[in-house]
Amino acid sequence: MQYIMKGGNPLVGEVIIAGAKNAALGILAAAIMTDETVVIDNLPDVRDINVMLEALADIGVIVERPDRHTVRLNGSNIHSVHVENDFIRKIRAGYYLIGALLGKYSHAEVALPGGCDIGSRPIDLHLKGFRALSAKAKVEHGLVIADSTRLRGGHVYMDMVSVGATINVMLTAVLADGNTIIENAAKEPHVVDVANMLNSMGANIKGAGTDVIRIRGVDHLHGTEYSIIPDQIEAGTFMFAAAVTRGDVTVKNIIPKHMEAISSKLLELGCEVLEFDDSIRVVGKPKTMSCNVKTLPYPGFPTDMQPQMGVALCLADGTGIITESIFENRFKYADELAKMGADIKVEGNVAVFRGVDRLTGADLEAPDLRAGAALVMAGLAAEGYTTVDNIRYIQRGYEDFDEKLRSLGAVIETVNDAKDARKFRMRVG
Ligand code: UD1
Repeated sequence: MQYIMKGGNPLVGEVIIAGAKNAALGILAAAIMTDETVVIDNLPDVRDINVMLEALADIGVIVERPDRHTVRLNGSNIHSVHVENDFIRKIRAGYYLIGALLGKYSHAEVALPGGCDIGSRPIDLHLKGFRALSAKAKVEHGLVIADSTRLRGGHVYMDMVSVGATINVMLTAVLADGNTIIENAAKEPHVVDVANMLNSMGANIKGAGTDVIRIRGVDHLHGTEYSIIPDQIEAGTFMFAAAVTRGDVTVKNIIPKHMEAISSKLLELGCEVLEFDDSIRVVGKPKTMSCNVKTLPYPGFPTDMQPQMGVALCLADGTGIITESIFENRFKYADELAKMGADIKVEGNVAVFRGVDRLTGADLEAPDLRAGAALVMAGLAAEGYTTVDNIRYIQRGYEDFDEKLRSLGAVIETVNDAKDARKFRMRVG
């Protein structure tokens, strides 16, 4: 499947942002740590989440979906702590099942995580964290195996700021004996959301959102009802889409505080950014300025917004530099943008963007989730037709992406093959 689009229309209107995928993945794992029922609301209906739910059902969790954005989970009948199927290998966050199952049953065997190919993605910090909680943790036959006779709280210093390792250690530590301290913890909004959710189940976590998280272990967790925070990256993607198509878009149902790094870069580009209680309006300008960006852990500029920023710099006045400091191979989209006439030079983890007056439509392939979304933005800003192939990547993290873009005036459709694409071109003219 691919997206085909005809660029040139400014995106205009309002778009409702879904729940945060990366928070939801941690929260789904947390939900199975009690034998009572947990209801989760504002769940995004995207592929990574559905894969996670299938993995949970596979080990005996009762999964009910009263509606598209709500799930009811009951983990009292889990019959296996061995999670290995074709699906779970495709997503990164399968690793949260290690922390959750280890915390609840003192044993977990989970297939090594997959996820987007944006560079080497080790899990050494996760293992280090489990070991600090008196567990044995090793990788064997493609599985992460962790077990413990008695989990005890411990002191973990994260050598790098890692969202995944912070959440994973937090999951295990809530049911360990005694106190745990995580230093140099990740401060991302989804770390805080998972902590809030665990606290609503009876956990005792303090300091989430700062770089020291303190956890006092409790005997058991109970059921809860919890609503997931809005997706910072989906919101940011639509805000940048407004900028590059010189449009006027209001992202609704968001937490503006989470968007500060993104909003401030849009201001530097010369866009108008108007902040309200739970929405932000971005008005793009005919000319945008260049700027330099370095990706950093929260509250810095997120690596998951780096390709979208790259598209904006392709169309800005002057030269802008992006330094990618989190992942080593996150500029694969540059070759695709070059097909549209972009002028980008990549040297290791630095890319130099010389702004051009226009991009022209081309046939592109999504290299990963966020880069895929960025290429769609480029296609909507470009002259003529663009196709973006491999949209399964984009569907991992964006709910109804093409539908939401159409509601803002984009001329875009999902097609199965070249024949459908020809029909689209004939119809659109
Ligand atoms: C999460 C997000 C991903 C986002 C990333 C950074 C999920 C499912 N994915 O990924 O969308 O791009 O945060 O905001 O939430 N590292 C190690 N050892 C480890 C773990 C990480 O060296 O054990 C390194 C990584 O290689 C990377 C850095 O730490 O350089 C940050 O990675 P991390 O925050 O763990 O990313 P993920 O949790 O995989």
